[in-house]
Amino acid sequence: MPRSPFLIVAIDGGAASGKSSTSRTLSERFHFLHADTGSYYRALTAELLRRGVMPTDLPGVKTALTAVTVTTRVTGRNAEIELAGHTIPDAEIRSAEVTAHVASFAAIPEVRSALLDYQRSQADTARRHDFNGLVMEGRDIGSKIFPDADFRFFLFADPVERARRREQQGLHDQVARRDTLDRQRLEESLQGATVIDGTHLTLAEVVDKIATPIAARLAP
Ligand code: CDP
Repeated sequence: MPRSPFLIVAIDGGAASGKSSTSRTLSERFHFLHADTGSYYRALTAELLRRGVMPTDLPGVKTALTAVTVTTRVTGRNAEIELAGHTIPDAEIRSAEVTAHVASFAAIPEVRSALLDYQRSQADTARRHDFNGLVMEGRDIGSKIFPDADFRFFLFADPVERARRREQQGLHDQVARRDTLDRQRLEESLQGATVIDGTHLTLAEVVDKIATPIAARLAP
């Protein structure tokens, strides 16, 4: 019997647009490896802050980037980033301090290129671990990381609704500010992607819209 194709699914969208819950659910449904690239930028931000480096200190950023090795730990269906051999606790990468700085670090070209090949290598990691595919979420996945992905989705949600979701999670976030810093990337990843407006949809409804064409591809 022919093996199902290995699928790459790109999910881009603004802050708090529901990318993570959607991607996690898809990874469970199809046995895909899940790569949350926002958590990679957040972990790198936490590591740089731990080393006393601020986003305005470009020489400091460059020196730290060459000193930090980047590897992966697959935990369940999640591809976690390891920096200098260790993972960063979730509480730290979701902290107000990291949230306040991450978009500024992510705007630095050297930071983005330090993670470029790493993100692409997750497809091989997924194959090596016998996953049926890779679902990768972020801001530039369908435009820069995997422009040839089998599926490219862009998750949209009204900014007021997104700010409300973050508040409900008890998290301090400046959703609109991060969207402004991320704007160019968001606009590029929107091009050619299937846009899903999740403002008035439940998680299950969003997942269904994405899962239906994937299921059709896996079992035509
Ligand atoms: O979860 P949330 O939507 O709040 O954001 P995130 O996905 O954790 O991403 C945190 C920040 O990382 C974003 O605001 C972007 O500045 C940056 N990021 C990026 O530049 N490129 C990506 N592929 C993913 C995240």
